[in-house]
Amino acid sequence: MAEVDHPQFSEYRQSVKEYYNRMNRLILDNIGYSYQAATLIHYKEDPYRETNEFVAKKMGIKSGSCLLDAGCGTCGPAIDIVNFTETTRISAVTLSLEQAKIGHRLVQEKGLSDHIQVYVCDFHELPFPDNTFDGIYFLESSGYSYSLERLYSEVYRVLRPGGFVYDKGVFKHNRELTEIEAEALAIFDRIYVFKTQTMEHHVSALMQQRFRVEFANDMSHVFNQSLITKAKIQHDENGQPIIADGKPLRTEFGKYHVNRLGRHVPVYFGDIKAVKSPVV
Ligand SMILES: C[S@@+](CC[C@H](N)C(=O)[O-])C[C@H]1O[C@@H](n2cnc3c(N)ncnc32)[C@H](O)[C@@H]1O
Repeated sequence: MAEVDHPQFSEYRQSVKEYYNRMNRLILDNIGYSYQAATLIHYKEDPYRETNEFVAKKMGIKSGSCLLDAGCGTCGPAIDIVNFTETTRISAVTLSLEQAKIGHRLVQEKGLSDHIQVYVCDFHELPFPDNTFDGIYFLESSGYSYSLERLYSEVYRVLRPGGFVYDKGVFKHNRELTEIEAEALAIFDRIYVFKTQTMEHHVSALMQQRFRVEFANDMSHVFNQSLITKAKIQHDENGQPIIADGKPLRTEFGKYHVNRLGRHVPVYFGDIKAVKSPVV
C-alpha cells in the first residue's frame, strides 16, 4: 500500500498485540478457543460451535471456497467453519504471535493443516495477491480497525469479484451519547483496546469501496453476552457464583475486564454482509 504508515497506527497496533499476547492464556482458561462476547441466546450443546456455524450459514459459504479469517484468535472459529463446510480452505490472520502459535498447534492436532494456515500480520496490510479470496470474515475483530477506509480497501483488493465480506461485531449506537454512556464506552474501549464504531460508519466505508451491502442488522435478539459475563465470575461445581464479602468473586479474566459503568456501555451486536461486484 502506497500510504505511509502513521506512527499512531503502529502504536495502537502494538497495544492490540500486547493485549492478546498477555491475555491469551486467560482467554483460553476462562473462555476457550473462540473469543466472542456475543453468542447465540438459544443453543443446544456448545454455544461457541453453534455460534460459529450460525455465522457460517449467514455468510453463505460455497463448497470449495477459499476464505480469509480476519482476526482469527486461536482458530476456534476457523476449525468449526471447516468442520461445518468441509471443503473450505482458510487463511487465518492475527496480530498476536501467541495466538498464532496456539492456533497453529490446535489446527495440527485436529488434522486440519491442509485446510487452515495461520499468519501473523495486520489485516490492513495483507500479504496476499489481489483477488485471492471468495470470502472474508471478521468475528468481533473489525472493531480493532484503526482506519475502516484502509481496511475495506485492502479487503476489496484481496477479494475476488463476486466475493463476500461478512462482519459480526460490536457496534456503537448511532446517536448522541449521554455523558455517562460516553465515559462507559471509553472504559470499554480501553479495557478491550477496542475502537468501537457505528454500524453506519462500517456500511459507509464499505460503500465507498464500491461494495454492495446485502444486509446490516441489529442482532440483539439472537446474540447476548451471558457467557463472557459468566467468564468474569468464579463458579462452584454446581455452577453457582462464588460469593465473598457479599460480592461475586472475579476470575483472573474478570479482574482485567471490570467496567464500573458496564450497564451504560452504548453498544449492540450486529452483522453486515457485503459483496464485491462480479464485474470490476
Ligand atoms: C475478539 S478477538 C476474536 C478472535 C476470533 N475471531 C474468535 O472469534 O475467536 C479479536 C482478534 O482480532 C485480531 N486483530 C485485531 N486487530 C488486528 C489487525 N489489525 N490485524 C489482524 N488481526 C487483528 C486479534 O489479534 C484477535 O485475534
